[in-house]
Amino acid sequence: MSDYKRILVTAALPYANGPVHIGHLAGCYLPADIYVRYQRAQKRDVKFVGGSDEHGVPITIRAMKEGITPQQVVDKYHAIIKESMEQMGISFDIYSRTSNKVHHETSQDFFKNLYDKNLFEEKVTEQFYDEKAKTFLADRYITGTCPVCANPNAYGDQCEKCGSSLSPEQLINPRSTLSDAVPVKKETKHWYFPLQHYEAWLKEWIIDGHKEWKNNVYGQCKSWLDNGLQSRAMTRDSSWGIKVPLPDAEGKVLYVWFDAPIGYISATKELTENWADYWCKDDTKLVHFIGKDNIVFHCIIFPAMLKAHGNFVLPDNVPANEFLNIEGDKVSTSRNWAVWVHEYIKDFPGCEDVLRYVLCSNAPETKDNDFTWKGFQDANNSELASIFGNFVNRTFVLMHKLCGGKVPKLYEEMMDDKDRQIIADIKAAKEKVENLIEQYKFRDALFEVIDLSRKGNKYMQEKEPWIVAKSLAENADAQKSIDNCLHICLQLTANLAILINPFLPNTAKKMLGMMKVVDKMLEWQNAGSINLLSVGYSLRAPEILFRKIEDSEITTQIEKLKSGLVKPVQEPTSDKPQVTSDNSQETTEEKAVASNVKPEIVYDDFAKLDLKVGKIVAAEKVEKADKLLKLSVDLGFETRTIVSGIALHFKPEDIVGKQVVIVANLAPRKMRGIESNGMILMAEDAGGKLHFINPEQDINPGAGVS
Ligand code: 2FM
Ligand code: ZN
Repeated sequence: MSDYKRILVTAALPYANGPVHIGHLAGCYLPADIYVRYQRAQKRDVKFVGGSDEHGVPITIRAMKEGITPQQVVDKYHAIIKESMEQMGISFDIYSRTSNKVHHETSQDFFKNLYDKNLFEEKVTEQFYDEKAKTFLADRYITGTCPVCANPNAYGDQCEKCGSSLSPEQLINPRSTLSDAVPVKKETKHWYFPLQHYEAWLKEWIIDGHKEWKNNVYGQCKSWLDNGLQSRAMTRDSSWGIKVPLPDAEGKVLYVWFDAPIGYISATKELTENWADYWCKDDTKLVHFIGKDNIVFHCIIFPAMLKAHGNFVLPDNVPANEFLNIEGDKVSTSRNWAVWVHEYIKDFPGCEDVLRYVLCSNAPETKDNDFTWKGFQDANNSELASIFGNFVNRTFVLMHKLCGGKVPKLYEEMMDDKDRQIIADIKAAKEKVENLIEQYKFRDALFEVIDLSRKGNKYMQEKEPWIVAKSLAENADAQKSIDNCLHICLQLTANLAILINPFLPNTAKKMLGMMKVVDKMLEWQNAGSINLLSVGYSLRAPEILFRKIEDSEITTQIEKLKSGLVKPVQEPTSDKPQVTSDNSQETTEEKAVASNVKPEIVYDDFAKLDLKVGKIVAAEKVEKADKLLKLSVDLGFETRTIVSGIALHFKPEDIVGKQVVIVANLAPRKMRGIESNGMILMAEDAGGKLHFINPEQDINPGAGVS
């Protein structure tokens, strides 16, 4: 840190097309906030910028769905998101929005800068066009039947049912979602950014220069770079977005992923007239907090843009988190499988820190993790309340009972090994927590804080001041022993307030109130000291820091989650290449799948299908494809490899041995480089759960189905 004079922290700009859920918090807002609060406590020059991402297809899709204008969409959700962030204590110095004038100007200037340097390639290509709606169509505005699994609602970029990556040309019966017209090809001109020109530089900068980045981030960058970069269009045909600042660009806007990261610069401009210090001076440490679906944009595309521009610093680190699942299933905004932050705040008023605790102690820092309501209850009742809260409460109750409500004296001559050990633990905790936070290991850092309170409980249990109090009449040193114990426990409490502050700021504030001290005590340099509370200073009565969470509250939440579940609709990857994001809200139009009977066929059509019973004899995940399983299916006469898009529904080990019905004469098809020879039939219930279709009892593999 010492090489830097100032720190600029950004957190991904959420799309203003829906409220934020706890996956968003766990992914980037909470870790960013912890980091910033810690840096502020260190009295470093730090700025924390964010805002709503208000352009791009996700917004226009939401507008179409709600029957309102894109502007109305962003106004509505920007307000909801901003409020949720504030209530959860995400302490942005500015939470801006990309529809602001300063952002439009900043993005257009940035584009012009690259254009004037001749850094774009101008290309005319054929794109799909809706002649009825008189507009070009992004891939996800086109639906049709998936050529792989026959899903009638596949999108022009992907079939979410079987996981195949598609292009609109591959869809059977393609239709525009805007007007139901058959899309036609039409020429259009766009400006492409040749990422391949930056490939060598990116390799040097990341692969050689940033080996310290988190494994998940470094690995994803390496894989992008190993696969080779290509030119990417930085403009789109749309009426919603930032106009391309060129004379011959009517109806063209900047690609949302071109303008969104520039939003960090615009927000800093709005925040301070010294914005250029944070963006243009080499002694700034720029840190982008994001979720894993944003890695390529923040580590490859945006840095290449910054490099091309030339005036700006590059990120020092991009500590991206993985995804947070809920009750064992991926977050899905369209299926409403999510815990919405604004609803949590309503259902658990005053428990914002509990959610912060649960999301940090179980943060998906190195792999996807699972949030369960039971785990939430356990973390509150058995960790926060029983360990941390209990220690603070006991200390205050005993200090009032045995020391007259004042900070007692420390008799150094009477200190024993246990006293010395706990004091050493207090000092060591400061070092450990700060080292871990500096390395973006927030989960481990929080563990150390709770562990210190655990040690406090153990210390008090061994010292037993309440037992010593029974011998006050006959033992002249008894009061001194009690005083020493409570003096140390009170200094430990003050330390806990400092250490917990970045993670649970409301709790730290309550503790300050109980100790009757001002915010200044929370400065990081005070941690490790055992002279934080003056001898003789009278303290307030204890406040309950964490109330118990009842079983009934948990049952209610689980029921709410399950009853809110709606039939799955597809959530395509939209403009994001390759990496899917259920945590982001780039959902597509959620088409009701009401009348779902396909057009009539004659018997001969049906007779062409060869359906057979098979038995799954092996199953494994397909690398880098969240949704696919590679199955070996025994058909009696042969064993087939079949790739099936069911990985989100079944664990490989749970389905080995199951009988299934397969379409045995489907033409082979390659998925992720694996040849799939057939298709498994599945039934989907109203909740979106998949069920195997199989004989009532085991029969010989290879038996025909008709
Ligand atoms: O994935 C998302 O939600 C994007 N709106 C993140 C944008 S981050 C940055 F580039 F602004
Ligand atoms: Zn499909």
